[in-house]
Amino acid sequence: MSHPAARPLKGCPSPALKGLATVPGDKSISHRSLILGGMALGETWITGLLEAEDVLNTANAVRAFGASVVRQGPGAWKVSGTGVGGWRRPEDVLDFGNAGTGSRLMMGAMATTPVSAVFTGDASLRKRPMKRVLEPLTLFGTEYEAQPGGLMPLTVKGAVQAMPVTYHVPMASAQVKSAMLLAALNAPGTSRISQTTLTRDHTERMLKAFGANITVGPAEDGGEVISITGEAELKGIKIAVPRDPSSAAFPLVAALIVPGSEVTLTDVMLNPRRTGLFDTLKEMGADLEIRNAHDAGGEMVGDLVVRASQLKGIEVPPARVSDMIDEFPILSVAAAFAEGKTVMRGLEELRVKESDRLAAIIAGLRANGVTVEELPDGLIVHGMGVGGVPGGGSVVTHLDHRIAMSFLVMGFAAKSAVMVDDAAMIATSFPVFESLMKDLGAVFEAA
Ligand code: S3P
Repeated sequence: MSHPAARPLKGCPSPALKGLATVPGDKSISHRSLILGGMALGETWITGLLEAEDVLNTANAVRAFGASVVRQGPGAWKVSGTGVGGWRRPEDVLDFGNAGTGSRLMMGAMATTPVSAVFTGDASLRKRPMKRVLEPLTLFGTEYEAQPGGLMPLTVKGAVQAMPVTYHVPMASAQVKSAMLLAALNAPGTSRISQTTLTRDHTERMLKAFGANITVGPAEDGGEVISITGEAELKGIKIAVPRDPSSAAFPLVAALIVPGSEVTLTDVMLNPRRTGLFDTLKEMGADLEIRNAHDAGGEMVGDLVVRASQLKGIEVPPARVSDMIDEFPILSVAAAFAEGKTVMRGLEELRVKESDRLAAIIAGLRANGVTVEELPDGLIVHGMGVGGVPGGGSVVTHLDHRIAMSFLVMGFAAKSAVMVDDAAMIATSFPVFESLMKDLGAVFEAA
């Protein structure tokens, strides 16, 4: 799905944010629930699914490969899978809209089944590198044809006689790792996928829950090796999708930077590969408490209680980057309201997200009167303290939902409103963002 009609919107100086909010289900787990459900035998019952454009595109794709995917009620979905290797050829082109995760994981999921499929997406997705998934998939015997540079639209031809592989994922990417694990499911024998930097482990956890033979052990380089046995029989399960920490990040930072705020965000997932932002904000002096942490179906969840705080700039440890990879746009906004400099390095991967996020963050900060230094692999934000950010700028979002939400949040705490050129993309990951923020007291204005 693309957005021909851009919807400009302003985030305006707002009174103290107060109340309790519950953000929607986790995007990463929502995609994986549908895909693994579609590859399993029997029924997978999902509650709390994120019903956002990205995930709905994955639902359509899983259906196109022959699984039954039925919405039973709000967030409640039933998937009746075909069994591993049972996918058929989709009759139409698969349009993933803005969704890097949905498209790359589906390329892996079909790569070892002898069917072919055409993958496309919106103008943002068509610029994003797909070779990082397509090239390693050829080790299984998969073939592909893509636009120059390995871009969409592209065709993947699943291997007719798949082979097991040993592959080291060269960049910190959960999507590449996950695509390889999903492909290995229908290859005979044991595949070994390794990574140096640990990335979100939802695929591994969920594969175990679906009954795959998968083990994770240490690698010599300090990373890990995942061994997975193919020709697997996955069995449908029940999944309660925990709430998305990457969505919680927006009301959380809004409450920190709007003076007098106190907000509670309930039942947020606390998987350590996803909570780097919370650790970073605490180091910056955030009054952020985690209450009622408990295990909910294999993932830790808890309530975040957050009160407005004067943050101070810090150096974000590069080793933490992959545990907060999607949170740099909103952390940069928090840093603009901190005292002193915040240094963020090791952010090369930000260049290939929904937009060149490093460039988009820097341009957005500068447009709103914040001094920022660009580094080849990061940025240094010169904080202006609570109430010190002028705002008043217009931000180009480049079809990037997280750039849009981050700068709207900046507007709640800046001296003048901040305009984003397109808020429509927010629907790809957090369709209720505006209503949830308004309920806490945030002010928006149509621009
Ligand atoms: C995701 C992995 C990350 C992240 C994305 C979701 C996933 O991407 O940025 O939003 O669900 O596996 P990369 O694998 O490109 O780092």
